[in-house]
Amino acid sequence: MAKLWDKGFEPDEMIERFTVGDDRQLDMRLARYDVEGSMAHIRMLEHIGLLTADELKTLLAGLEQIRSEIEEGRFEIEEGTEDVHSQVELQLTRRLGEVGKKIHAGRSRNDQVLVDLKLFLRDELWQTAHRVRTLFDRLQELSERYRDVLMPGYTHLQVAMPSSFGLWFGAYAETLVDDMRLLAAAYDVANQNPLGSAAGYGSSFPLDRTMTTRLLGFADLNYNVVAAQMSRGKSERAAAAAVAAVAATLGRFAMDVCLYMSQNFGFVSFPDELTTGSSIMPHKKNPDVFEIMRGKCNRLQGVPNEIALLVTNLPLGYHRDLQLLKDILFPATATLAECLAMCDFMLQHIRVRENILDDARYDYLFTVEDVNRLVLQGVPFREAYRRVGEQVQAGTYRPTREVRHTHEGSIGNLCNDRIRAKMERVMERFE
Ligand code: ARG
Repeated sequence: MAKLWDKGFEPDEMIERFTVGDDRQLDMRLARYDVEGSMAHIRMLEHIGLLTADELKTLLAGLEQIRSEIEEGRFEIEEGTEDVHSQVELQLTRRLGEVGKKIHAGRSRNDQVLVDLKLFLRDELWQTAHRVRTLFDRLQELSERYRDVLMPGYTHLQVAMPSSFGLWFGAYAETLVDDMRLLAAAYDVANQNPLGSAAGYGSSFPLDRTMTTRLLGFADLNYNVVAAQMSRGKSERAAAAAVAAVAATLGRFAMDVCLYMSQNFGFVSFPDELTTGSSIMPHKKNPDVFEIMRGKCNRLQGVPNEIALLVTNLPLGYHRDLQLLKDILFPATATLAECLAMCDFMLQHIRVRENILDDARYDYLFTVEDVNRLVLQGVPFREAYRRVGEQVQAGTYRPTREVRHTHEGSIGNLCNDRIRAKMERVMERFE
């Protein structure tokens, strides 16, 4: 029942189930954008004379009503209706009669779903960017709060040089700035209007695509109608790359926390109620939150690959395979949102250990500092290196435990204000 492409036969029920599957559920996320896109489209149709002013008014009121139903959770895509696009048109036609059947002139579900997805992605990326920003602010705040609390720095997971919680938190904050650049790039890709490309080859109606671009607030158009259709998959790929980049940063941070929570490190801890237990070992306070976060974020890094496998080498033009993009991307952005929020929540309660470096096992952190002191006294670097190295070998090395790093970005000069300015410049791209 109710196929837009009804021409007198009913598709087999198994075919229907296989080709639609979970897509109706996923399409619910697009409903409000579908209405928004339809409103722009019919305003444009009226402008070019394909609808009368009265028809436009009636249709807009009908769409407005559907919009309220969506907002109030009363909208559903019925069993037997293929997708959200069909449902909106069906509902309009049921309520308004003949005039409802006019809205689809000059468009196809192919450009309709494209425009829905671009509007959706724009919102989703904007929200992701703001969630990342919240975590960035939290990390910077912690970096400032613990700027002078020293911790060991490692290379090869071997004790290397002094680091600090200021550097550690601040490092993840600054890395998020680069992830934000990818989010901004994905936002730019999504922020182009595909509407009017119809099935992928345009229309013989004199569509005013600049008008719908303006109405929908897109920064530009996907001009070439074939390129517009090609952007299905492209926009998702760009978004997935950005999501994966943030996930990579977050997953790595989660790994650090797991490591630092281990008794062998003991650098950070959380209140008991934020840890998890063991069914057999009564003493356990496990970092399950960060393990799940690490696992989820690691999986998210496979998302660009999943998309690539789905769309690679599809011949030009629309294919139903593209429908499955939603099934990959929608859960991915939701998972990232969940991880970002959880990370921010946990960081509100993180405790860091003070005076870690007093422990003799970290003495060698200071060898470079002592080499540098000799250099300042006029000893050539290689000679100074050798002297300290011989003390280490002989077991006579005693650290002076002084840390005098003052250049930009080092322990004593975190430059968090300059990193924040960098973040703000990237954020401007989302306006
Ligand atoms: N559910 C479809 C999708 O996501 C909508 C477009 C359908 N177009 C078509 N020609 N069957 O791709």
